[in-house]
Amino acid sequence: MPKKLDGAILGAVQIDRDASILLHHQIFSGMRDLILSGSLGSGVRLPSTRVMMQELGVSRNTVRQAYDQLIAEGYLYGRDGSGTFVATDIPDTPFEPSDFVQSFVANEGTNVASLSERGRKIANRVVLPGFGEARPFAASLPALDQFPSKLWNRVMARQWNRQDLKRQGYGDVAGYRPLREAVATYLGSARGVVCEWKQIVILSGTQQAFDIIANILLDPGDSVWVEEPSFRGIHNILEAAGARPVPVPVDQYGLNVEAGLAQDADARAVIISPSHQYPLGVSMPFPRRLEVLGWASRTNGWVIEDDTDSEFRYAGKTIPALQGIDRHERVVYVGTFSKILSPALRMAYLVVPKGLIDPVTTAIGIVSRGVTTQLQSAMADFMTEGHLATHIRRMRKVCLERQQVLVEAVRRECSDLLEVSPTDTGLHLVGWLPDDVDDVDAYERATKLGIETYPISKYYSSPHNQRGGLMLGFASAPPEEITRGVRILAKALHDVRAS
Ligand SMILES: Cc1ncc(COP(=O)(O)O)c(C=O)c1O
Repeated sequence: MPKKLDGAILGAVQIDRDASILLHHQIFSGMRDLILSGSLGSGVRLPSTRVMMQELGVSRNTVRQAYDQLIAEGYLYGRDGSGTFVATDIPDTPFEPSDFVQSFVANEGTNVASLSERGRKIANRVVLPGFGEARPFAASLPALDQFPSKLWNRVMARQWNRQDLKRQGYGDVAGYRPLREAVATYLGSARGVVCEWKQIVILSGTQQAFDIIANILLDPGDSVWVEEPSFRGIHNILEAAGARPVPVPVDQYGLNVEAGLAQDADARAVIISPSHQYPLGVSMPFPRRLEVLGWASRTNGWVIEDDTDSEFRYAGKTIPALQGIDRHERVVYVGTFSKILSPALRMAYLVVPKGLIDPVTTAIGIVSRGVTTQLQSAMADFMTEGHLATHIRRMRKVCLERQQVLVEAVRRECSDLLEVSPTDTGLHLVGWLPDDVDDVDAYERATKLGIETYPISKYYSSPHNQRGGLMLGFASAPPEEITRGVRILAKALHDVRAS
């Protein structure tokens, strides 16, 4: 019989709601101290997350995060279906923390009293750790195994050999001109973006792009419509800038403008992913696009268009970017090389209305001197020599095949537990769960079995009626890994339903 936890011990986990340390980290630290001091002995069975949630007066998810961290560090272990226990071989010092854990440790180690109010807000946000492993079903990664290494190395190898001393010094903070020209030409033909090369600004990722835009266009307290559900990185940026994200429901046509007006008629900007909504995957049809642009020109609002993975179009005609039909200079377009080549390059681009070129360039110049010139120059060569276009064409085929393998495997292995429909665009689809399967439970079980997925419910800011689902990236792993991954995922879902 496992030893049971004494209620008094549970009472020793103190929660301070006024502290700036995240609640789950407070629970984690309290329980870790109890384990290290021997107050919680080896083999003791912990209360379920539901009981802990009630005892501590926090959300179940907060308890889950604390338990997950304790499991990750080896203080606890979970036994299939029978609970969570204190480990028998307790480490007396925490082992090397993962990047994810480090982000919490960094928060705890900070002398928060010395931070500005803005700094405290920033320190309390959680950012995604680095992740590079191409496991099934990583939703944010392209087919890294198909990266055109030989060609890329060849292009890179040229960069430092050239007798072009200008390129060895400080470059233009807005980006290396040949790359800006190449991106303008590429976006014109591939995405229907209408711009001159001067409107292109090269940055080290879309996150930096959103940050610069927020600094230039938003004042503290400004409200910004964001898609509900949406990419969480956007909320971090807005809140760090003191702006107020207003979640506006996404229907089958994308962000619902009428709902936005009803919620906050004074929004200063909207951030949308019209060509492939993240995470639900819907495409915004032309009339809704006009509605968004109409709102922007009437109110002088800004439209920030996140177009991260729209090059991957598998059926029908590519849907051009919203930027291309804007006649009033209200759209700021954001794109990235992360999905078409690799996120390790850390290169993205903004297309800004002409009036924003100088302010955006100055804002970048204040905090950085731009992206590595040789990297930009290599990318310019890679594009002008036609390698990027060839790679994208090849990737469309590879990713379509991987998607088909995923859909067929799910329908074969677990059609009773996961409903999938092929998507026309992008690198992921959503597997919808039956009503009686909680997507966070499914995600946790799958994660324990080595499957990378994410619950749809976590992309929402507030309670919603959407059924649970899992994000399934199909690009990041080869077909045989996808098939094996689906078998494991099917087992995880069966386990959850049986528990
Ligand atoms: C919708 C969306 N926007 C932006 C990004 C970030 O892209 P980057 O690597 O350019 O920062 C991601 C990455 O997953 C994403 O899914």
